Amino acid sequence: MPGDMGMERDDRDARPEAEAMDNLMADDDAVAIAPESAATGRDATASAELSIVIPCYKERPNVRPMVDRIDAALPGIAWEIIFVDDNSPDGTADAARAIARRDPRVRCIRRIGRRGLSSAVIEGALSSSADFIAVMDGDLQHDQTVLPTMLAELRADAADIAIGSRHTLGGSADGLSSAMRHRISNAGIGIAQSVLPMRVSDPMSGFFMMPRARFERIAPRLSGQGFKILLDIILSAPERLRVLEIPCRFNRREAGESKLDALVMIQFAALLLDKMLHGYVPMRFVAFALVGALGIVVNLAALWLGHRAGMHFFSAEIMATIVSMLFNFQLNNRLTYRTHRLRGAPLARGLVLFMLVCSLGAVANVGVATALFSHSAHNGLAAAAVGAAIGVVWNYAVSSTLVWRTL
Ligand code: GDD
Ligand code: MN
Repeated sequence: MPGDMGMERDDRDARPEAEAMDNLMADDDAVAIAPESAATGRDATASAELSIVIPCYKERPNVRPMVDRIDAALPGIAWEIIFVDDNSPDGTADAARAIARRDPRVRCIRRIGRRGLSSAVIEGALSSSADFIAVMDGDLQHDQTVLPTMLAELRADAADIAIGSRHTLGGSADGLSSAMRHRISNAGIGIAQSVLPMRVSDPMSGFFMMPRARFERIAPRLSGQGFKILLDIILSAPERLRVLEIPCRFNRREAGESKLDALVMIQFAALLLDKMLHGYVPMRFVAFALVGALGIVVNLAALWLGHRAGMHFFSAEIMATIVSMLFNFQLNNRLTYRTHRLRGAPLARGLVLFMLVCSLGAVANVGVATALFSHSAHNGLAAAAVGAAIGVVWNYAVSSTLVWRTL
């Protein structure tokens, strides 16, 4: 991840000319910048003390109100907003850029071909050069009025990270959309608390602030999976962070909709697993192997059905193999390789390739197992396990490089 940061700097460098052009074309642009610089008492080109990173996907109607509310909440503070949009089809990036053209404190990183709240936050935060970074949702659900308190506490070095908490005295989670969301959220909090090294009342919060230098030190260890960037940060920090929780209200969403779905929950489980394995085994490999294990169940079920339907063993075996490969391909495409999902013609090409790869994997698996079985003390289970392990590593390695082309 950290390898592909930095494109937005070029945008910035190019901005003075673009701005000059804008000012020539529309007089009110120049007027818009001047009073803001006067209000903060800083040169408009001076760097910000606080970067507010806002991941957003399909949040177009919320962009303008976000900027206005933050501006109103931070008088006298040199802030900047970094929107990180994953190429939303509703034109969220256009809305952010329209503001950025008039206000140098706002910029937008637009990522193409990638999705994910956590990885968006990481990219935005790494593009900052401010002393402090805050992370906030772009849908107005987080309460911007606590930002000055967070900043004051961090400036005073009262903590390593300040978290906006819904579950500490004075906070509220009423804005969650349903009783079901409350239950899911509480269950997640319980699970997260059981793996945390310290007590945090709201580890699932997506609203926090920390010194940028500390974030940078933790960044290379982050898993970057899914929605839970705060949890990722706390679990990835080499030292125990001094946490300060600041009560805040979680507002109801006014426009757009939540992106939390079943896959996001699976990613939450994956994040915890990843942290428990200390990152030694790639999460994608774990997912691939789990999908493979499910595929075996599907294979056996299809074989049994074929047998019941009176098919010959050989044709039932071929049918069951094809069914389980289709199943594995679909699930891998939607889950394991979600970020590199194939659609249209590449999907068909990928499927054919995947079947070829897995067939070779099966040959390797059976070949190795048979050889080991005849050479070893005829320990069938151990021979089969080694064969299967070689098969799955082969399938994973080749699928990652040739089918989904993640490298
Ligand atoms: N760039 C990018 N890419 N942004 C995303 C993506 C993505 O794939 N998915 C979601 N976002 C943005 C949304 O646009 C929004 O600004 C923010 O991340 C939070 O997403 P929501 O979909 O509104 O999440 P939520 O309200 O269900 O979840 C919130 O509550 C959780 C606790 O219950 C978030 O604050 C979570 O961070 C929080 O943990
Ligand atoms: Mn939300």
